[in-house]
Amino acid sequence: MIKKEFFSACQSFITKHEGFLYFAPGRVNLLGDHTDYTGGHVLPIGIQYGTWLFIRLTGNDKITLSTKNLNQTVTIDKDNYNKPTKSWADYPLGILNELIAKGLQFTGIEMVFYGDLPIGAGLASSASMEMVTAFALNDLFSMRIDKPNLSKIAQHAEQEFVGVSCGIMDQYCIAFSQENHALLIDCHSLEHQAIPIESKEYSLLIIDSKVKHKLSGSIYNKRVNELKKVKQLINGYFEIPYLGSLKGEDYDWLDKLIESDLLKQRLRHVVNENTRVELAAECLKNHDFKSFGKLMFDSHESLALDFGVSCKELDVLVDTAARTDGVAGARMTGAGFGGCTINLVEKGAEEDIKKRILADYKQKTGNEGVAYNIRLEGTLHKVEA
Ligand code: GLA
Repeated sequence: MIKKEFFSACQSFITKHEGFLYFAPGRVNLLGDHTDYTGGHVLPIGIQYGTWLFIRLTGNDKITLSTKNLNQTVTIDKDNYNKPTKSWADYPLGILNELIAKGLQFTGIEMVFYGDLPIGAGLASSASMEMVTAFALNDLFSMRIDKPNLSKIAQHAEQEFVGVSCGIMDQYCIAFSQENHALLIDCHSLEHQAIPIESKEYSLLIIDSKVKHKLSGSIYNKRVNELKKVKQLINGYFEIPYLGSLKGEDYDWLDKLIESDLLKQRLRHVVNENTRVELAAECLKNHDFKSFGKLMFDSHESLALDFGVSCKELDVLVDTAARTDGVAGARMTGAGFGGCTINLVEKGAEEDIKKRILADYKQKTGNEGVAYNIRLEGTLHKVEA
């Protein structure tokens, strides 16, 4: 209903070319979590759920930001664009802040957001809001910033304005997502390969645990700092350009340079996860979904045991999936500490699998999860009237 109201409220402005509508997808990471900020590899997809932005120039010296989902509006004087509000509005404000520094000028702007992504569920709802804002302003004001730079601007806005030391995966994936393709992204060189995902046998399901653990932002930043420390320790002996340049086999000699068991585990996750992403990309190219699924389970175990970013609820969802017929692979996706799992399942068995996993989840945790069928059809674009 809200979605319908949102579109009909925008319609007459759009028809008269007095307002414009843009869409940015959310992302699901198929493999490679907590590798992006080490310059490693990731393998995400853009999905059909995302964020719509209606944008209109008002000339009233105000910045007016609304979200239809929360039914909230934040209005500030145009000159106060650089003061964080400690609310959802900081995602678009952070982008305005970056683009004003690059020369953007306006006399008043209204932005209205509507999203159908579950918020805070590890599907990049924040990056989706950032990227739709960056893309819309870049288009509307003909700023001619290319997509890699738009992604960097959005990442920088989140780091500086929101205060999360995030990597570039979400913003970059949203910028380049392509229908029916996964993106193999090298987060150091910022190059990617789009790999077709075609399978008559398998499809993808997201299961939202509906839990979000407190302190997730601060634990995320803690992991980023732990890995910085690991790099420093290694660099005391050898000059490595960035942790993401290492592979699984390097762990055998690197671990001897680090005393702390905890930091060894963190390193082990990063190097193994990096290797898994490369193997997984090969599996996709060879249509070997069984091996792909096995890598997903391995990745979850590594994120849970070595990297410490899973939680009881996500572990229950993945364990149940592993024991459910028709599931080839499952893992947490995104930052962790709650949110969603991604499941590779046999086509035709989706409804049955959803029911069984959700029932088991309810019985073991008391929580009602929610399952979604995923289609790889989200792309960043202007919605034409
Ligand atoms: C969040 C961050 C990303 C990435 C993932 C974990 O989504 O925004 O940069 O680090 O967590 O892979």
